[in-house]
Amino acid sequence: MSQLAERLRTARAETDALFGMIDRAALYDRPVSDRHRLIFYVGHVEAFDWNLLSQHALQKPSFHPSFDKLFAFGIDPEPGKAPADKPSDWPREPEVRDYGARVRRELDASLAQVPEQLLHVAIEHRYMHAETLAYLFHNLPYEKKLAPHESPAIAADLPASSMVEIPAGIAMLGRPRGDGFGWDNEFDLHQVDVPAFRVAKYKTTNGEYLEFVRAGAAPPNFWIKRSGQFFLRAMFEETPLPLDWPVYVTQAEAAAYAQWRGKSLPAEVQYHRASEGATPVNADFKHWDPVAIGGPAGASRYGAAQMLGNGWEWTSTVFAPFAGFQPFPFYRGYSADFFDGKHFVIKGGSPRTASCLLRPSFRNWFRADYPYVYAGFRLVENL
Ligand SMILES: [Fe+2]
Repeated sequence: MSQLAERLRTARAETDALFGMIDRAALYDRPVSDRHRLIFYVGHVEAFDWNLLSQHALQKPSFHPSFDKLFAFGIDPEPGKAPADKPSDWPREPEVRDYGARVRRELDASLAQVPEQLLHVAIEHRYMHAETLAYLFHNLPYEKKLAPHESPAIAADLPASSMVEIPAGIAMLGRPRGDGFGWDNEFDLHQVDVPAFRVAKYKTTNGEYLEFVRAGAAPPNFWIKRSGQFFLRAMFEETPLPLDWPVYVTQAEAAAYAQWRGKSLPAEVQYHRASEGATPVNADFKHWDPVAIGGPAGASRYGAAQMLGNGWEWTSTVFAPFAGFQPFPFYRGYSADFFDGKHFVIKGGSPRTASCLLRPSFRNWFRADYPYVYAGFRLVENL
């Protein structure tokens, strides 16, 4: 069995395990109002592989055209245009499971004929859903989730917030063609001159953001107030707000906080400069929630801690193509559908980001007010 076929099986095991940690009845819940009900994703991760590989590599006829279509695409609606379907509008779980099992059988019989690039697309697409499914499950009631055995993190002393200096230099963005897999938006490789700036050594913490909330800002979606105290809605339980964990917020909240502190969010090119040499911290499905900012560092060559993992980092950069961008002919809308000026680049990774997506050229993007993503931020000072 080829290495990529083995990786596809490992990725399938990851999404299977995820669906195994929620109450079956919750599959027809819609924990996030502007995303599909969870049953859609049971079908989608399989239908995506089927549509991609049967049409663009194997020329196999469909065995279930209506499911191929129903489960083809997720949604990212404009604000106020959330879907209004009912649970009974969706097929029953056994039918969806049977469809997925047959997709796997049919594809696995012919995987040796699939070009490597398409297998990378299938593997990484599934891992991206392994992360975004965690965002959706995060918003299910706790009683619908089965918690793994994981001891809660213990609060440590808050390290003093400090800035590190990033000298003027060249940021390398994108990746060279013909040197391993990358999505369409990762091309072309190019250099950008970046003036000197200062960047926070640590991501902004819940404790720091609490000062902003006490000054009148709205609390983030991951917080809840009980008897006058804020608690964090962690994956499997509410916990007194861990002051030394990175805060998860929207891009709009991060930008407002930065302005309140008299600082800025980093541009994508500044993230690249500041994160050179960073190594992964709290990523690749080892934990569900963040760890303290003063925990494992994985610092960049300039001393900025935890830039790769423990929560994505919002940038001030609107998601847009690099010069030389060409959509994949087999997935034209992957990036191009989001070049609308309304999505912002996030970089780095979260506890639920697969290791293959931690490469420096990988770009992710969400709307400025999307409150469910495991993303925080760090401040910069432009000199
Ligand atoms: Fe998808």
